[in-house]
Amino acid sequence: MNKNNKYRTASKGNGQGSKGRVLTTRQGHPVTDNQNIRTIGSRGPATMENYHFIEKMSHFDRERVPERVVHARGTGAHGVFKSYGMVGNDPIEKFTRAKVFKKGKETPTFVRFSTVGHPSGSPETLRDPRGFAVKFYTEDGNWDLVGNNLKIFFIRDAMKFPDLIHSQKPDPVTNIQSAERIFDFFSGTPEATHMVTFLYSPWGIPANYRQMQGSGVNTYKWVNADGEAVLVKYHWEPQQGIRNLTQKEAQEIQGKNFNHATQDLYEAIERGDFPEWELNVQIMSDDEHPELDFDPLDDTKLWPKEQFPWYPIGKMTLNRNPVDFFNEVELAAFGTGVLVDGLDFSDDKMLQGRTFSYSDTQRYRIGANYLQLPINAAKTHVATNQRGGQMAFDTDFAEGQNIHVNYEPSILGGLEEAPMAGKEYTPRYDANLVRKPIERANTFKQAGETYRNFEDWERDELISNLGNDLAKCDPRIQEKMLSYFTQADEDYGRRVKESIERAVAEAKKMMKHDLIEGTDGPLGNITGEE
Ligand code: HEM
Repeated sequence: MNKNNKYRTASKGNGQGSKGRVLTTRQGHPVTDNQNIRTIGSRGPATMENYHFIEKMSHFDRERVPERVVHARGTGAHGVFKSYGMVGNDPIEKFTRAKVFKKGKETPTFVRFSTVGHPSGSPETLRDPRGFAVKFYTEDGNWDLVGNNLKIFFIRDAMKFPDLIHSQKPDPVTNIQSAERIFDFFSGTPEATHMVTFLYSPWGIPANYRQMQGSGVNTYKWVNADGEAVLVKYHWEPQQGIRNLTQKEAQEIQGKNFNHATQDLYEAIERGDFPEWELNVQIMSDDEHPELDFDPLDDTKLWPKEQFPWYPIGKMTLNRNPVDFFNEVELAAFGTGVLVDGLDFSDDKMLQGRTFSYSDTQRYRIGANYLQLPINAAKTHVATNQRGGQMAFDTDFAEGQNIHVNYEPSILGGLEEAPMAGKEYTPRYDANLVRKPIERANTFKQAGETYRNFEDWERDELISNLGNDLAKCDPRIQEKMLSYFTQADEDYGRRVKESIERAVAEAKKMMKHDLIEGTDGPLGNITGEE
């Protein structure tokens, strides 16, 4: 940023020749009057041949695309990932042949951070997981690692995702988010207890995007040149340290600034204070692991660090802000299906469901040709036989290709299949097609461990945040949630119970004070009396 000027300037314009800073229409016509529409006489009606006015206004009328159905509020930045090339003392090729991980390799990246449940203009201080989506523009095409700040998730089967999100979004009648609806869903979803424990602690409000972790959450696979696979989980560790907020701190920030995280990232990058994250992996052999008391493909579980150490494998630096928020951040499209050779899917049911959902929503949100947009296009050889569709503009020919041939196979010089990069990985399945929950559910053990591992202030925050929200819920919901917390840890259950009682007593006192005792106040009928 220029020291004397807080604004950035474009280093070059588009198109041929230079006309200085002259305003034009999209057709390249210089605009000589941008103040007055054409009218018959100075007070008469406007005419339909006002091309400049109609182009300007009709483009404005179409300035928005639908916001993301989740993760609508976000910001982004460009950067670079540099690979260390090692996993502990082993060369990384022992586990994966992905070229992005070759020693010393530098790969451009684009990252989008976000909150999850709230709309695009909402405060960045709200309690919510944070999205951490990374696009790697690798020499083998794009790889997207679509993660969150927290390392686990609420549910373990993709079938439940629309219900989870409906419960978090505003009430369809009042359009107001409701703690009762949220906990109604959680009380029927005991596997969410571990994630709820993180979410209601300070880990549910990271101080900003630079000082938070990231995690792929779901389990992937790595495949080496011999076609052998291992299970892998990814974690980003911020080199700026980790900082989370209490509810009170968040409210104070929110009262002054509801863009604080976007502003923090933008300004840090503008002043050259580039944030960095180290990428770590946890690795497990690719089998069922009967010795574990949880299923490695269950995304409500942490893989214990003592058993499955974190291996640093590279570092990402964010060093460039977007020049157009809409084109680069809003139109960015990440998906769990976007993998390169050497990376593969696991049978994690959430990952499978997610992989359908992302590109499906993006074809609706942005359009069938969303991958032609510069932010989403691979920065490598792209040559498809896909043609047409709304807003198609990039005909991706290969050099020397017969451009009459948009099909395969052909002997007339069309596109050809690529050779395999290594031995194909061909997992074998022998089972009935069923609908079944994960067997080693072990729903509450890790929630209890997480509770006990928190620092005192984190536990105190967790208890008071849960008490305040559960006080607004139907007693049947409270009872179920208390039984889950108690199964995780007796002290946890007891303290949340006391916290609910405290919050109810406090609310009653306030209602008395307001002389509206006995009526349904903003918390609903918290007295529980009919
Ligand atoms: C965004 C679906 C679980 C992380 C989205 C979007 C959809 C979606 C439809 C909007 C995408 C767009 O408009 O471009 C799902 C489904 C899930 C699921 C169906 C479970 C079955 C998860 C989990 C994580 C996650 C477990 C964390 C690892 C994200 C992130 C974004 C996102 C970070 C925002 C990407 C961006 O910045 O554009 N998800 N999601 N999602 N999801 Fe998920």
